[in-house]
Amino acid sequence: MMRKLAFSALSALALTGAGSGGAALAAGAEGHMLDTSFSFEGPFGKFDEFQLQRGLQVYTEVCSACHGLKFVPIRSLADEGGPHLPEDQVRAYAERLDIFDPVLDDTRPRAPTDMFPTVAGDGMGPDLSLMAKARAGFHGPYGTGISQLLNGIGGPEYIVSILTGYTGEEKEEAGSIFYENVAFPGGWIAMPPPLSDDLVTFADGREATVHNMAEDMAAFLMWTAEPKMMARKQAGFVAVLFLALLSVLLYLTNKRIWAGIKGRKHA
Ligand code: HEC
Repeated sequence: MMRKLAFSALSALALTGAGSGGAALAAGAEGHMLDTSFSFEGPFGKFDEFQLQRGLQVYTEVCSACHGLKFVPIRSLADEGGPHLPEDQVRAYAERLDIFDPVLDDTRPRAPTDMFPTVAGDGMGPDLSLMAKARAGFHGPYGTGISQLLNGIGGPEYIVSILTGYTGEEKEEAGSIFYENVAFPGGWIAMPPPLSDDLVTFADGREATVHNMAEDMAAFLMWTAEPKMMARKQAGFVAVLFLALLSVLLYLTNKRIWAGIKGRKHA
């Protein structure tokens, strides 16, 4: 009986965990969310380095005009498990971005060890380094985390939804222009629609639709927010394997220790 109860409690948890993720996502906190599947979801998910490279391209050619990535070191573009660019390309990328160096009291080209630029000022958007985690949707009942494990954290879905959620309506309020966006809480965002079809040309031939660019961009921002996700999942998996093995060994040891007493026949 106890075992049966425990089992149904567990499966109920698992079911609501996995199920409500989709529902919560569809409803969103306020806005309308698109459920997108990404290569990095699930316990064995991995970033797709080509997708990250395309996302970097969209960021560089479009979003960097208004958004910084001040917590992201440029050298991490070479990381395996990340965009994995060759070192010389990373150096060339860094050199195109100037930085003010207080020691030289002058600007100099960035080195790979520098961070991506900080972008601030009128009409500029918030820093995007951690946006994918800052806007993570909360999934699942009481923080069991099962839905997050299966469906991801919801931040990249939010980014795809924002980038594809414009209706084309705009309004002026207190001297600023707002754009109607079905995913943005409140429905009106100050960011002009940044993407349009064929805005960039992908080297690998992927069609540059708004939706494709939005997906690649969201994957890239998940990577900037959590560059070590793959290492973390791997460590988690090894830990689970180790604990499973340890349980078996302890069970056998326990049997062995008590064998003399438990096996004794009563008189
Ligand atoms: C012309 C400047 C501009 C460009 C280009 C731009 N943004 Fe924005 N972005 C903004 C502004 C301004 C906001 C703040 C909007 C608000 O709070 O109403 C913003 C906000 C955001 C937000 C946060 C929304 C939130 O929940 O607070 C995200 C995510 C975002 N931008 C992503 C992008 C991406 C990805 C690109 C490139 C494809 C991009 N932006 C290009 C100006 C820009």
